[in-house]
Amino acid sequence: MEFLELAKRRYTTRRYSHRPVEQELLDKLLEAARVAPSAKNMQPWHIWVLRSDAALAKVRALTASTYGAPLVLAVGYDPSKGWVRPSDGKNKGEMDSIIQATHIMLEAEDLGLGCTWIGSYEPSELYAAFPEMEGFEVQVLLAIGYRSDDCRASSRHADRKATSEITSEL
Ligand SMILES: Cc1cc2nc3c(=O)[nH]c(=O)nc-3n(C[C@H](O)[C@H](O)[C@H](O)COP(=O)(O)O)c2cc1C
Repeated sequence: MEFLELAKRRYTTRRYSHRPVEQELLDKLLEAARVAPSAKNMQPWHIWVLRSDAALAKVRALTASTYGAPLVLAVGYDPSKGWVRPSDGKNKGEMDSIIQATHIMLEAEDLGLGCTWIGSYEPSELYAAFPEMEGFEVQVLLAIGYRSDDCRASSRHADRKATSEITSEL
């Protein structure tokens, strides 16, 4: 499939089937994550795989946006391992994690899986629920799974600004 076709086909999934994500597909998602670029190739990432009943119960208590997905990946980085830009002191691990999460989201689409990029949760609650994540900066939760038969894109999916509105040539 052409990349642009894949990018246009993707939409935020908000209805999942109960079917578990096979280990083989999870391995591919993690492989897509592993090959992502990072600032100075520092690879400060860490991904937590949440799919046990106990882990899913905890994450579902933190956000309404998992929509019954059988798998959630918490994507973050270790600030002590990210590249810090000397000119402004910004840790680029944040950007590295976002790029990595985007790789995962698009790989999910390529594998026929749905994905929800979840930003609506309270980080302090996440760290309290999962002390293993303390010391890291979790940037995004990705809910992933097979879409239910009645899953459809929201009206916002088709609502995009024109190229001319978001670009300028200088
Ligand atoms: C940074 C970010 C945070 C988001 N947080 C949530 C969320 O918490 N819950 C949710 O259902 N969708 C969330 N979304 C999905 C957006 O609402 C969605 O991408 C947007 O409405 C466009 O729709 P589309 O993805 O179907 O094209 C988030 C997306 C991004 C990029």
